[in-house]
Amino acid sequence: MKVLGRLFLLLDGLNSRAYSMTDFTGSGISQAVPRLGVGLLYNAALPRFVRSNLDAFDYLAITPDLFWLDRGPGHPERYEELESWIETLDWVAANRPIVSHNIGLSIGTAGSLDVAYLDQIARFQNRYKFPWHSDHLSFAQVRGATGDDYNVALAVPIPYDKEMLQLVAARVDLVKQKIPIPFLLENSVYFVDFPEQDMSETEFLNSLTQRSQCGLLLDLHNLYTNARNHGFDAFTFLDQLDLASVIEIHIAGGDEFAGMYTDSHAGPCPEPVWELLDHAISHTPNLRGVTFEFHFSYYPLMGEAGVRAQLDRARAAWLGRTSATKIP
Ligand SMILES: [Fe+2]
Repeated sequence: MKVLGRLFLLLDGLNSRAYSMTDFTGSGISQAVPRLGVGLLYNAALPRFVRSNLDAFDYLAITPDLFWLDRGPGHPERYEELESWIETLDWVAANRPIVSHNIGLSIGTAGSLDVAYLDQIARFQNRYKFPWHSDHLSFAQVRGATGDDYNVALAVPIPYDKEMLQLVAARVDLVKQKIPIPFLLENSVYFVDFPEQDMSETEFLNSLTQRSQCGLLLDLHNLYTNARNHGFDAFTFLDQLDLASVIEIHIAGGDEFAGMYTDSHAGPCPEPVWELLDHAISHTPNLRGVTFEFHFSYYPLMGEAGVRAQLDRARAAWLGRTSATKIP
């Protein structure tokens, strides 16, 4: 890892915030990426929260797909931005960095990749200057009998096979060509095992980050969910994963449904996820941010104080690792 020791000044309108910059190689990512701190994934319950709690988060993660109406591939006016959502985003963007967490790429789909969608993400990146962006290691587009693609509105996990590895790695390269900033893929939740897979999940993720220009968004709650449902040890999983590839971590909550534990983002993080975070933070040399995510319907239960409490605890974990890096 080569430390350039440069300082990147990010003007936030009122104050200058200084972030240390590191140029690192070996994890498929070579661009200098700012070390942001603790982030919050934006949702429909948060417009007022973000304006009055700017001190609680260092960056805002957004799902850009929520900020526009998508009329579908081929439509002459495919994307229409939602004015009130954009207004809040512009206000936050003047005060904090924005990171993009996309949901529309469907990188593991058997059909063709939606290149117009990538172009739309690129337009947003141009406007908001995301330091990195991410999507899910899954697919949501399926091809019907008529040859048309349908969005199943659900992230379906992929099989960990050599053929899938080739497909995803090639698509990561295409994403990087279109949007030349770090691109991360997030580990998925799976409720059933695919039979006769070529690789374990960690072997697949390690191979993917070694052979493509792709980093990892490590969702610790997804890991916890899989470990709990499938009866394996989450810490052993972390030992087997190339943690130098992890650029961002997600933390979240979940709940029981129909005899399974689910990644429902149901409010606060459970205690085992905090334990995983403490461990992961001290073993991820290239980590740039820890993002708390929750479903907007749980905001009335958590309230402003509840969301702040999650962010404060994440910050304590972050600062424990990076005490030498000053985060205002
Ligand atoms: Fe996540």
